[in-house]
Amino acid sequence: MFRTQTCGELRATHIGQKVTLAGWVKTIRKFGSITFVDLRDRYGITQLFFNEAQTTLLEASSIGREFVIQVEGTVIERSNKNANIPTGEIEIEIEKYTILNASLTPPFTIEDDTDGGDELRMKYRFLDLRRDAVKKNLELRYKVGRAARNFLDSQLFMEVETPMLIKSTPEGARDFVVPSRMHENQFYALPQSPQLFKQLLMVAGYDRYYQIVKCFRDEDLRADRQPEFTQIDCEMSFINQEDILNTFEAMTKHIFKDVKGIEFDYNFPRMTFDDAMKDYGNDKPDIRFDMKLKKLNEVVKGNGFPVFDEAELVIGIAATGCSEYTRKQTDELTEWVKRPQIGMKGLVFIKCNADGTFKSSVDKFYNEEQLKQIASVCDAQAGDLILIVAGEKNLTTKAISELRLEMGGRLGLRNNEVFKPLWVIDFPLFDYDAEEDRYIAMHHPFTSPKPEQIEWMNDKSKYGDIKANAYDLVLNGTEIGGGSIRIFNKNIQERMFDALGFTKEEAIEKFGFLLSAFEYGTPPHGGIALGFDRLCSLLGGQESIRDFIAFPKNNAGRDVMLDAPGPIDEKQRKELGL
Ligand code: AMO
Repeated sequence: MFRTQTCGELRATHIGQKVTLAGWVKTIRKFGSITFVDLRDRYGITQLFFNEAQTTLLEASSIGREFVIQVEGTVIERSNKNANIPTGEIEIEIEKYTILNASLTPPFTIEDDTDGGDELRMKYRFLDLRRDAVKKNLELRYKVGRAARNFLDSQLFMEVETPMLIKSTPEGARDFVVPSRMHENQFYALPQSPQLFKQLLMVAGYDRYYQIVKCFRDEDLRADRQPEFTQIDCEMSFINQEDILNTFEAMTKHIFKDVKGIEFDYNFPRMTFDDAMKDYGNDKPDIRFDMKLKKLNEVVKGNGFPVFDEAELVIGIAATGCSEYTRKQTDELTEWVKRPQIGMKGLVFIKCNADGTFKSSVDKFYNEEQLKQIASVCDAQAGDLILIVAGEKNLTTKAISELRLEMGGRLGLRNNEVFKPLWVIDFPLFDYDAEEDRYIAMHHPFTSPKPEQIEWMNDKSKYGDIKANAYDLVLNGTEIGGGSIRIFNKNIQERMFDALGFTKEEAIEKFGFLLSAFEYGTPPHGGIALGFDRLCSLLGGQESIRDFIAFPKNNAGRDVMLDAPGPIDEKQRKELGL
């Protein structure tokens, strides 16, 4: 046998046994004439003990870090036990060792806290993956996928694969395109999601579908966005919204219990999109802490403070226990909201002092009684610091929502071991695109309007008011899933395309197959897709999804290990007619 055990397996009960192990040299420590080597594999670390004679041999072989070796020896009790590792009670007294392969000195240390910067780690991702911290993330990912599969299997979902070379599916991002060799000047698009295929599977009668599937979107990248990412994609027939929410809440609970041992003994709260926007300023509220937004236009206007009087929106939050913030700290917050990413002109403070008095940066315009009123609207208590921004509605809403998260972070209210899921429901059907001066689908064009509002689709002035049977699953301020009940009627689907500005011909050219399918017995259906990478990173307590993907792209969408994207040679280019 190549090895009798793995490097994570041996315990005190094995003392006296002859064993053979294989793995990578993690560290070499020489003490006078003897040597200790830590041998690593996927399962753990085992200490090897080289006596004087073996040490002489070892030195002659100039063995180094990350060499792959096979060792034979006897398990002995360790004199200096290490309670931090499962094999810490024993070591192997080496009788023979074989170098299976040499290694160059790695460009960074393969430890939890490595000295390798991001680019270097990604360039040598195969070495980075040897690090325990990354390995744990990938193990977690495997377990999340396994738990999802087990759950869906128990609920009679069937996994069906869908194609990768397709025609564009509109999910709101740009497509990655692949030129066709056989059809010059024609292109496939990579799927932004399997949306249309899963709907066609419903038409075909596969009433519970799922797929853990790669999706491709050419959009601006962030910590929780990759150009290729994975969804747990699901669709069901003969269901209503309630069935979907219940099924996927149960799946989420199952995953948490299975992977983290965490049980939610309550129903996930549900919040309408309108309430989320009003209280948190965004559609993915972090409800680990309160600090709700309070609109102040009414209470502040008419006192001669032009910034507030002229603003479309004046809005504040009460930061708990921050009334003693120093000038330096408040200045710093002002700079924070003035950064280009936030774009505010300034920040107004009201300190609610512990003795019940108030001190503000706008004392010139507001007396004690008025400040008290503002504090009351903000639900501020003695000891709190009220932060107020004012300006154009969308920009100001975004700013206060970001500031709320920032303050939550500063106050330690965003503990990543605390999990607060919720459903956001009743999304608008349409979103207004000011740049293009037209309505676009808020979720996607296949999402159904609330049945009682279908008629409003005939009246453009009502578009903004129509709500959809669409929902998001939100966890700790991140959207981890989104879905909807679909349109399953040809006429309504055509009306939807029309509302989105497609001519009849364009709709047929792009989605003729779907409209055609709708004429052959389409069941009522709906579904959801969970962002698998995001779910994993949250379960792993980290913000970036990158370290939960074996071979991710960097922030510029590059694979620095492969050096992709890259040019193709002239011959290939010609063949593709490019
Ligand atoms: P949606 O576009 O909301 O819905 O995507 C579903 C979930 O996928 C995750 N996600 C991403 N994760 C990492 N990187 C990205 N670039 C990225 N984009 C999205 C999010 C999101 O909630 N077809 C519909 C689903 C449906 O209607 O059933 C869809 O794709 O967590």
